[in-house]
Amino acid sequence: MKKVPSADDLLSMIEIGSGNLASIGEFARRRLGNGAQRVFIVSNKKVFGLYGRQVETSLKKAGFLTATALIGDGERFKTLRSAERVLAAMAAARIERTDAVLSLGGGVVGDLGGFAASIYLRGIKHIQLPTTLLAMIDSSVGGKTGVNASFGKNTIGAFHPAAGVFADVDCLSTLPEREMTAGACEMVKHAALAGKGLLKRTQAHFSCRSQPEAGERLVSLVRENIAFKAMVVDQDPFEDIKRTDGRSRKILNFGHTLAHALEKVTNYRYFRHGEAVGYGILYAAELAKKLAICDKQSVELLYDVVHSVGALPSLAAIEPRQVFEAFQFDKKNISGSLQMVLLRGIGRPIILSGDKIPPKTAFSTLEAFLKLQK
Ligand code: NAD
Ligand code: GLY
Repeated sequence: MKKVPSADDLLSMIEIGSGNLASIGEFARRRLGNGAQRVFIVSNKKVFGLYGRQVETSLKKAGFLTATALIGDGERFKTLRSAERVLAAMAAARIERTDAVLSLGGGVVGDLGGFAASIYLRGIKHIQLPTTLLAMIDSSVGGKTGVNASFGKNTIGAFHPAAGVFADVDCLSTLPEREMTAGACEMVKHAALAGKGLLKRTQAHFSCRSQPEAGERLVSLVRENIAFKAMVVDQDPFEDIKRTDGRSRKILNFGHTLAHALEKVTNYRYFRHGEAVGYGILYAAELAKKLAICDKQSVELLYDVVHSVGALPSLAAIEPRQVFEAFQFDKKNISGSLQMVLLRGIGRPIILSGDKIPPKTAFSTLEAFLKLQK
């Protein structure tokens, strides 16, 4: 691996804690400097209702003027239309180039707020305040921002890394169980790519999360996940299309070939994305075992860990043929050929092009996998 960001690098722009929400103002001041006068908060009604007041109070205490735009709740509001409304509200609030956007919410709010920040006056600073587990460990880190369009999810966007990421894991206490499981599946994805140590710590946390020290454990797991993602991003910040080595940013798509297909055949209404990734991890593991790339013990460990993080929706109504056809539409396909991230073992990702995976094997493994889950 090229460069592991030092703890100092990370700590200077990321603050993760438990019960630290009231210090967001000081954090924003440190990250934005004294030149920034206004912080424009992007959120939704639900999250702002839970945490908005505390965030505003803290920003004001640190000397900022604040203004807010609330977008609708859910993926269907991650659109250019919502972004345009946010941009108009930013202009009405007289946000200037030295000011910043702060996204308070899950990945939908973070992606849209970051996108608005990336294009307003050709780009102003963005602070992420993620309030879902998925946003804490994944979407707030790495600089991908954007919105959905009629022609696909996340097809309009920009790379615009946040000037700071601030998270209070206590915000997760109000998160619905399914959202927690979805974020935890993305944690399993990171851990499977990172190595056995993180995978075992992830399993240990989710197997006994009611213990008193669970909060502290979660803070360090979130930190480790962010450090891992930051390291991968650092090696390939713009996801070079030509790269197929194990250090490419594309490895973060582990589990996503089946996940995208499952979401597509259920019209994006049945699974939370992370839940589909949970199944995607297991299918990729089964396929790697079938291709004699990955050992049985690693596959069994992945089953144990995915099952430890929470219940996944039933696959009983899912048609293997339909899912297999949806594989061809995976956004990550390059020149029409499927690319799939598989593991040689825990912590040993490889990217295989579709021509190295016999379609018959991929299909029979899929059929058997779906049957096993029913
Ligand atoms: P989300 O933003 O839709 O949030 C899930 C739900 O939880 C929403 O209803 C939200 O209002 C609610 N919520 C958020 N925080 C809460 C809290 N603390 N308490 C109670 N409810 C809360 O979903 P998500 O899973 O956070 O993010 C998914 C989005 O992230 C997708 O649009 C996906 O494309 C994007 N994403 C982006 C990246 C990236 O690198 N930019 C990576 C992964 C995912
Ligand atoms: N979530 C995948 C990436 O950020 O590249």
